[in-house]
Amino acid sequence: MKLTVIGCGYLGATHAACMAELGHDVLGIDVDADKVALLQSGEVPFFEPGLADVLRRNISADRLRFTTDYREVASFAAVHFLGVGTPQQTRSYAADVSHVESAVDALTPLLRGNHLIIGKSTVPVGTAAALAQRISVLAAPGSTVELAWNPEFLREGFAVEDTLEPDRLVLGTNPADKSGSAEQVVAEVYREILDTGVPFIRTDWATAELVKVSANAFLATKISFINAMSEICEVVDADVSTLADAIGYDQRIGRRFLNAGLGFGGGCLPKDIRGFMARAAEVGASDAVGFLREVDSINMRRRTAMVDLMSDACGGDVLGVNIAVLGAAFKPESDDVRDSPALNVAGQLALRGASVTVFDPKAAVNSRRMFPMLAYAQNVTEACTDADAVMVATEWAEFVHMTPDELADVVRDRVIVDGRRCLDATTWRSAGWRYHALGGPVRSGGQRASLVPRMSVSALGES
Ligand code: UGA
Repeated sequence: MKLTVIGCGYLGATHAACMAELGHDVLGIDVDADKVALLQSGEVPFFEPGLADVLRRNISADRLRFTTDYREVASFAAVHFLGVGTPQQTRSYAADVSHVESAVDALTPLLRGNHLIIGKSTVPVGTAAALAQRISVLAAPGSTVELAWNPEFLREGFAVEDTLEPDRLVLGTNPADKSGSAEQVVAEVYREILDTGVPFIRTDWATAELVKVSANAFLATKISFINAMSEICEVVDADVSTLADAIGYDQRIGRRFLNAGLGFGGGCLPKDIRGFMARAAEVGASDAVGFLREVDSINMRRRTAMVDLMSDACGGDVLGVNIAVLGAAFKPESDDVRDSPALNVAGQLALRGASVTVFDPKAAVNSRRMFPMLAYAQNVTEACTDADAVMVATEWAEFVHMTPDELADVVRDRVIVDGRRCLDATTWRSAGWRYHALGGPVRSGGQRASLVPRMSVSALGES
């Protein structure tokens, strides 16, 4: 089939390359000419494992190319995927859907004949209905432009795998249109995937839009739940990792997404829960997702707690202390630093007067752009040279597997703070390091609460 993909960021570039991999002829469009030139030359403008291979293979096979020209897009195909970004608005929690609107405004008047636009971006519920209204006004006389919503669930770091082997496909169509034509087209696009037995959930626009934000809200809640348990564990000297393992064996709970630590960040979970709260308020259902404010708040507390833990580990103050921060990306296998907990903590430590040196295997360029005042090292050893304390802030495999001996002679003091609870405390401690982590019982220096409840005087009958 001939397909176009509008927007060539993480989502769009991956989708375009993967659709070509399925055998379709794909034209990707982006308003950023530099990005288009890079993609056309076979370079991925961000780090995503395996994507460059898929991109190059399909460009060489003449199944994939990129443009900045909407006229080309309009004449190339009758099926158009929409994958532009929906960031958080600057002065509110709401999602900014202006890129989605601009794309529809640019494309629709150019279309002739029958076309289908398939939205993939994460949007507030009600967006598809509003866009359909817009399309009906903008469409050229005699042309039919249908709209469907097919949310994307890919994770950065696994984008290719998640696109080609999704755990489900969701399609929302116009509830007033019973023809099933959009569904047939989308089933044809994903034929190879559907033939493997992947569940295909067909529904209306609103449900499809909600599936996406509620999935991210659930994941964020799961992470904040375990981080809330972590806060309890810290005060009673219990171990949150063991707790997560133990509750995770219950299949109704599951162990995935129960890793306590610095919490969630990135370009999706934080802005999606905020956008959800904003939209729920607009439709008069703010109480329904009031708990997401707490989820957000637990998550943001992790960052200050980590800075405090580092201060404790350094004797109460980080002023003038050399700190190596290992990891800046919001998670491993990504160079994305949008709302990254790691970089946020590095920045806070610097603002408290520490001399912070950051090393990240892939995210240095993006980090420097966002936090130019931090120092950046080329490798772990350089970052840790003369460090008074080392913090692991993103669980890249190379940090998880490093040994205490590698760093012992490089650092000034053997202090390690494990922001992701990904190191083996016993190994580091037996090598002579002072090991610290949120989520106990490995935390040292904290106030241990008495586990024996105090009986009140009246309960003792002494009133
Ligand atoms: C997330 C969802 O997982 C995808 O399904 C969704 O498609 C995507 O958002 C999106 O909306 O586009 P992603 O942002 O790539 O994907 O990252 P995740 O793997 O979900 O991790 C998010 C954050 O949670 C990271 O900062 C990670 O370190 C943190 N996390 C994850 C934890 O703190 N603990 C965990 O147990 C798991």
